[in-house]
This record gives sequence, structure tokens and C-alpha cells, in this order.
Amino acid sequence: MKEQLRQIEETAVAAISSCTDLRALDELRVKFLGKKGELTAILKQMGKLSAEERPAMGQLANQVRAALETAVSEKSAALQEAAKAAKIAAESIDVTMPGKRPAVGRLHPLQIVENEIKEIFLGMGFSVADGPEVEYDYYNFEALNLPPNHPARDTQDTFYITENILLRTQTSSVQVHVMENQKPPIRVIAPGRVYRSDAVDATHSPLFHQIEGLVVDKGITMADLKGTLELLMQRLYGDDCKIRLRPHHFPFTEPSAEVDVMCFNCHGEGCRVCKGEGYIELLGAGMVHPKVLEGCGIDSEVYSGFAFGLGLERIVMRRYNISDMRLLFENDMRFLEQFR
Ligand code: PHE
Repeated sequence: MKEQLRQIEETAVAAISSCTDLRALDELRVKFLGKKGELTAILKQMGKLSAEERPAMGQLANQVRAALETAVSEKSAALQEAAKAAKIAAESIDVTMPGKRPAVGRLHPLQIVENEIKEIFLGMGFSVADGPEVEYDYYNFEALNLPPNHPARDTQDTFYITENILLRTQTSSVQVHVMENQKPPIRVIAPGRVYRSDAVDATHSPLFHQIEGLVVDKGITMADLKGTLELLMQRLYGDDCKIRLRPHHFPFTEPSAEVDVMCFNCHGEGCRVCKGEGYIELLGAGMVHPKVLEGCGIDSEVYSGFAFGLGLERIVMRRYNISDMRLLFENDMRFLEQFR
């Protein structure tokens, strides 16, 4: 029995000292010291010993148990210490490493220029109005003096939700909403998306953006229109920028004009960009038609107004020298990342 005890002590101590993880250590503890363990099995045989042998053997058994318990607890402490050290090493941070820069987004070129134009008009005392993109026929056409079957509707074919509801073809619809809800003096711009049933090419898109302008007050004349637009263009393209008004026709303005801006490339001399004209067509404008004013409950004998509508894409393309409108809608990051 003495031999057996020595044997157990020797194998157990060896196994414990070469053990490398806490789970295995616990298994060894159970194997040697547990209720059904090897040491217990031997102690159960003590009853077979004579009364003289028993005390010495009992003492030896206790020594072996104490030795094994110490070995297990020392090993356990050492393994826990090592695990903690490994965890700290794994979690340590190199504070000298350069940080990761968060990717900062940018504004779309259309938004950049829209913001700029808004700022210019806010500086002139305008406020910004908004209107629905899904619109009644009435606001998009009829109230703007374009009754059903008016031939000018053909140039603004759009997408219909029902016979009466459509995607607006022009921000001019916002003019009507504003005049219905607000009495003069009125000074607003209305930027937003508009839609037309056009095929996509370098200069056309079924979705594009306009900025509408509307001023209604006593004594507003064409001179106010010209002065306002000239200031806008000078802010956008430089102080020497001039504009030119050409007679045109819009059903909701009378008189109407198309507004050309001096070519940014040749300053009016005539070059390839402006096809020798010296000027580039940029927007439509005119004096608000008395019928439109009256339809919105504004007395056209007392008040007059001007309105204009400019295409945002055109201005952005001029500004950044972009030759294909599709670039503005394709969302290619290589393109978009160039704008600040
Ligand atoms: N809404 C017109 C268009 O889309 C532009 C315009 C606006 C003309 C206001 C005159 C006055 O072509």
C-alpha cells in the first residue's frame, strides 16, 4: 500500500506539473483526489490493515493528499496568472500607431451649387419655398395658363400617376402654391427636382433640377428681373459677367424672355464653347402673366411680378466644365470625390 501511495504521488505530481490548461488541471484533480479518485480508492482499503499499520499508513496518505492539493493549487494559480498576462498582451494598444481617419462624405456638385445660389438669394431678401414633386395637373399646367390641349404641353411631356396627377415638369408649379398661401410682397426661390419624359443623353435626363424665382409686389418691372439675374450671374461667374434677354414665349409670363449669360470662356468674344455666340442660353423668365396672378387671387391691377426658372444641371456643368450630364447621376465615386 505504501508503494501504491508513493506511486500515485509520483505520477500525479508529474502530470500536474506538465499540465498547461485549467480544464485539464481540474480533470487531474478529480482523477487523483476526487470521491472516486485513485487516492480515495486506496484509503478505502485501510480497513484491511492491522491496527498497528493503520496510523502510519493514515499519516502517509494524508501527506500525499496534502502534497497533491498543494501541487494543484500552485499550478492553478500559475495557469491563471499566465492566462491573464496573455490577455493583457493581446489587448495592449500601440498608442504610437497612426489613427484610422473616418471617411468624410462630400456634397454632390448639384448640392454645392444649389447651396451657393440659395445663399445669394437669401442675401437679397428671398426665402426658400418648397412644393410637391408629385403634383396636380392644375398646379403644373392649368393654373400656369396651360389649359388641357394647349400645344406648349407637348414640350413638357411627363409621367402620369393618374390623368390628374403627374410628376411636375417645372418648379413653376411652386409659384402657384406660394401665391395661393401668401399675399404680396412675395420674394421666394424654389429649388427642386422636375421630371420629363426624355431619353437619357449627354444633355437630357428624365429627372433634373430647377430653381424657380418669384417676386410679386407693387411696381415690379422687367428692370427688377434683369438686375436680379445679373447680380446672380455676377456672383456665380465674376463681376464682369453680363446677361442678355431675348424675346421668347412662356404661357405664364408676359412678356417672356430667354436669358443668356456671357460666355465664361471667351467673355463675349465668341469661341468654341459658345459656338461663336459669345453668350450661352441659361434660363427662362418673364413678367408673371396677369391671368396667373388673378387665378391665385392677386389683383393684377395693383401688383405685378417677375418669375424665372433656371436649370441647375446647366449651371453646374458650366461651372465645373462637365460635358456629359450623365456624370451627375451615375454616382461614380471617382467623379464625385473631385468636388468640395
Ligand atoms: N418653367 C419654365 C421652363 O421650365 C421656365 C420659366 C420659369 C419661364 C419662370 C418663365 C418663368 O422652361
